[in-house]
Formats: sequence, C-alpha cells, structure tokens
Amino acid sequence: MTAYEPETADEEIAPAVREVYGPVDLSSVPAFAGGFINFGDWQGMSLEHPLSTEDRVRSERNLYRRVLRALAPEAGRSRAVEIGCGLGLGGALALGEFGCAAVTGVDIHPEQLARARAAHADLLARDPRRFRFVRGAAERMPCADGEFDRLYSVEAAQHFRDLTAFARESARVLRPAGRLAVTSFFVPDADPAKAQALAERLDSFATGLDQPHPLPTLLDALRAAGLADVCAESIGEHVWPGFDHFLAGVDLPAGWPRNFLGAYRDGLLDYYVITARRPAH
Ligand SMILES: C[S@@+](CC[C@H](N)C(=O)[O-])C[C@H]1O[C@@H](n2cnc3c(N)ncnc32)[C@H](O)[C@@H]1O
Repeated sequence: MTAYEPETADEEIAPAVREVYGPVDLSSVPAFAGGFINFGDWQGMSLEHPLSTEDRVRSERNLYRRVLRALAPEAGRSRAVEIGCGLGLGGALALGEFGCAAVTGVDIHPEQLARARAAHADLLARDPRRFRFVRGAAERMPCADGEFDRLYSVEAAQHFRDLTAFARESARVLRPAGRLAVTSFFVPDADPAKAQALAERLDSFATGLDQPHPLPTLLDALRAAGLADVCAESIGEHVWPGFDHFLAGVDLPAGWPRNFLGAYRDGLLDYYVITARRPAH
C-alpha cells in the first residue's frame, strides 16, 4: 500500500472555489435548495407549469440517483468514495437507498466539510465506520491504494484543476474491478474558441470557478490511467431545460445569469455521465 497524506494544503483550493463555498451555504439559496448544490436531473418532470422548491430538491436527488444507478453498488458490500461531496446528502442516499456498505465523502473545502459533519452528526456518531467525511482534493485523494469498490462524483469535476491527476488518483484508490461514475458539465470537444466563448457568456467560467474542460480530456485521462470501458452519456436535455425553467420562477442574486441553457443549445457545453471500471487483472 502506498502511504497517503490526509492533509490538504490550503493553496490546493482555487480562489474562486474557496470563496463560493465559503461562509454562505450555497445549498440553502433558492436556486439550489435542500442541501444539494447541483443543476439537477429533471427527466420525467413536466415543464408546462412553474416548478416548486420540492421539484428542485427532487431534481438534485435524482441526479444522484442517476449516477448511483450507473455505479451499481453491491448492496451491503460496496465501499464507496464520493469526490466533491458537498454537504453529504448524496452519501446518505448511497447508504440508505443504494445499500452501500460504507461511504467516505471527500471535499476540498473545510467549510463544506463542517456543514456536512453538522448535517449528519447523528449518523456519524452512530456508525462512524459506515459514514465519514475527509478533507482532500480530487487531484490528491486522502485514500489508500485499492481502498474502494466504487468512486463517484456529482457536479464537482468542473472545478477540478487537473483531470489527469483526478483520473490517476481514481484508478489508484479503486480496487481491481472497481467502478467509477462521474457527472458534470464539460465542453463537448477540444475547440479552444468554446472555452473563450464560455468565459464571455458565463461568470462562473470568467472567474475561474468552473473550468472549460473538454470531455475528451477526461476520457483520455481515464484510459491513460488504466481504466477500461470508458463511456460518456450526454444528459444535457434532462438538466438544462428543467433547471432554466425552475430559475424563471426564482429571484436570482445579481450576477446569476440564466445563460447555461443557451450555452448548451449553442454546443458550448453539455452535461454527461461518465463511467469506467478498473480491470480485474
Ligand atoms: C457544486 S458543489 C457539489 C456538491 C455535491 N456533490 C452536490 O451535488 O450537492 C462542488 C463541490 O466540490 C468541491 N470541490 C471543488 N473542487 C474540488 C477538488 N479539487 N477536490 C475535491 N472537492 C472539490 C467543492 O468544495 C464543493 O463542495
């Protein structure tokens, strides 16, 4: 087993990530809500009428459900790690609904981890070996070699600064035959003009909060790290129209333009579920 360092250096956090997930709990603002921070999976919800906060929270939970279905944990057996776990509600879902034997939530931001630990204080106290939160970066995971059967990540990879390091670390911490499922938004191809256009149209790219990672960069990095059966499924149609429809009924803070749907429709971005597995031998 390779030694690993559980400490995350403060300078590993991008300044915009540090600020956005700082003192204000983003999961409590109306555009997100319910303890999650993701754009949601709205498949099956009618966009004919205004969407409620309950719909919003359901969409965020459903995005986790989509990823966890793709991950296919074995009930009572799989030890899973979530990278970029936020407040840990997805981890609780992985334990409660998908029967994971144990979940480790990893997040780079100390304030997000403090919120996660507070949100799940009872569960953590009751069964500390089943659910835990650890500070760490996607690019330098605080985990031992082969420690996990499953690795997943929900709407965090757009913040990772180095997808090659993320892929290498994922392959390292998965056991042979272990599986990975990642969902987030990426630029569909490596056209540099798209990165420029995103910075012009969306504040989150202009500030460096979101990185304009081309999807092929992640897929190539996963293959180069030794993972097999690397696949990407586009789910943008289940994400952006519903999210935009919901935002139409919400009072948005200044600087929150509803430009993601347009960027998706213009081919600058798409939302994907990426799956892969570590070969058994
Ligand atoms: C958009 S939130 C998603 C939270 C949660 N997955 C959800 O869907 O509710 C992104 C999370 O990724 C974390 N994060 C950002 N960069 C990271 C990195 N390099 N390594 C680990 N976590 C990171 C942030 O601190 C934040 O909690």
